[in-house]
Amino acid sequence: AAAPQGAPIWLTAAAPSAAADAAVALFAGHWEGQADGVWSAPGRVNLIGEHLDYNGGPVLPLALPHSTVAAVRARHDGVVRVVSAASSADLGGEASVWQGHLSDVGPGAPEGWAAYVAGVLWALAQAGYAVGGVDAAVVSTVPLGAGLSSSAALECVVALAVADLAVLGETSADAFRAELAAACVRAENEVARASTGGMDQAASLRCTAEHALMLDSATGAVTQVPLPLAEHGRALLVMDTRAPHRHADGEYGSRRAASERAASLLGYRLLAEAVTEAGGTAGGASAVLERLRSAAVAAREAPDRVEELVRRTRHVITETARVHQVVSLLTAAAQGSCVGVSGVGAVACIDDVGPVLSASHASMRDDYEISCPELDVVCAAAEAAGALGARMTGGGFGGSAVALVRAGTEEAVASAVRAAALAAGHPAPAFLRALASPGAH
Ligand code: ADP
Ligand code: GAL
Repeated sequence: AAAPQGAPIWLTAAAPSAAADAAVALFAGHWEGQADGVWSAPGRVNLIGEHLDYNGGPVLPLALPHSTVAAVRARHDGVVRVVSAASSADLGGEASVWQGHLSDVGPGAPEGWAAYVAGVLWALAQAGYAVGGVDAAVVSTVPLGAGLSSSAALECVVALAVADLAVLGETSADAFRAELAAACVRAENEVARASTGGMDQAASLRCTAEHALMLDSATGAVTQVPLPLAEHGRALLVMDTRAPHRHADGEYGSRRAASERAASLLGYRLLAEAVTEAGGTAGGASAVLERLRSAAVAAREAPDRVEELVRRTRHVITETARVHQVVSLLTAAAQGSCVGVSGVGAVACIDDVGPVLSASHASMRDDYEISCPELDVVCAAAEAAGALGARMTGGGFGGSAVALVRAGTEEAVASAVRAAALAAGHPAPAFLRALASPGAH
């Protein structure tokens, strides 16, 4: 979208009826006859708790108003046909129409974006559900590859549609949604071969409006955490850096591998167990990190690697504490029982979230080392323009950041962030208003 000179680019969410009409029209233009129905699944922004899902820790995403909408018709012959409104340029040169048979779907196949569609049907079949194929047409306002989980939104809209059409379970029940999310994760890990954790799919399927979702990644248990921002004059602004993802896949995998190595040196399966050992105190954290250092030295890890494992583990420990801190602040704000650092009352508690977000960003930049100049610039510029706090969100190495701002200042913050990005020689960021929205429906 071309913006007037100097003006920030806003990515707006479509009105639900307009998105549904667009999906139905796309369906009619490609597949004869009519769709059986229309489903919608949101992208997400993670408020805090980064790279904790595969470590068994807590994460706190919310669903965006931006979503992927699919018009879908059930088939019974194993054929999958899907068309996306995304341009072939947005799809990295791939065609926007795909057709195949479920018997050809499995680990690593198909390649490309169809893996997120066909892979979900395959994963549902692997889980023992009877699925027979689909015709589908998808339209989306979730920016692709911006770290806002367009891929999970695509998986989840397909999973929900198939589950409803084939009456696989009670799709309004959170427990069944957790099963659907697990199938989507399997599609992503095994068919699309991206070794991500489970946060994105849980967010798209299990979030509710006006809440963030605290997911305990070790157990899959969720808590709906109220997000009383608008009534207290606060808002969340998402800043998509539009920075090219540099080595994002390899770096993500190496962070995951480092976490697994650190856990195993400590005698654990998941680093969340090391967080429990640290017991929520600074002294406890130092003791765990010292034990890790000794174990890594004893295992003859190179000195640089020893310190790297210590930094990665420190992020996991401190980030876990920050998730709990933000959940406490938001809960207190919602209950009106708040005594915060910056004063008494709900607004004080919400504003106290800001510095926690900024501390999270510093930890990702310095300890987990997943930020990049584009993300650092937008976060610093947002804070300089009055944001209460800002952090990169998602996998890192590009993608998006999220800022807590005073309602009404979004435009001014966005202008300042855009100017700072351009002055640094970076692409013009795009902006989204992150109103906590319903999960897939
Ligand atoms: P993110 O999930 O953060 O947006 P990813 O790189 O994990 O980034 O996923 C983006 C990919 O997901 C796209 O390149 C494409 O393959 C697929 N995808 C997502 N949304 C759509 C869509 N609406 N139509 C077709 N493919 C999509
Ligand atoms: C995403 C990934 C999630 C999560 C996140 C970092 O890219 O899909 O599972 O690990 O990065 O918090």
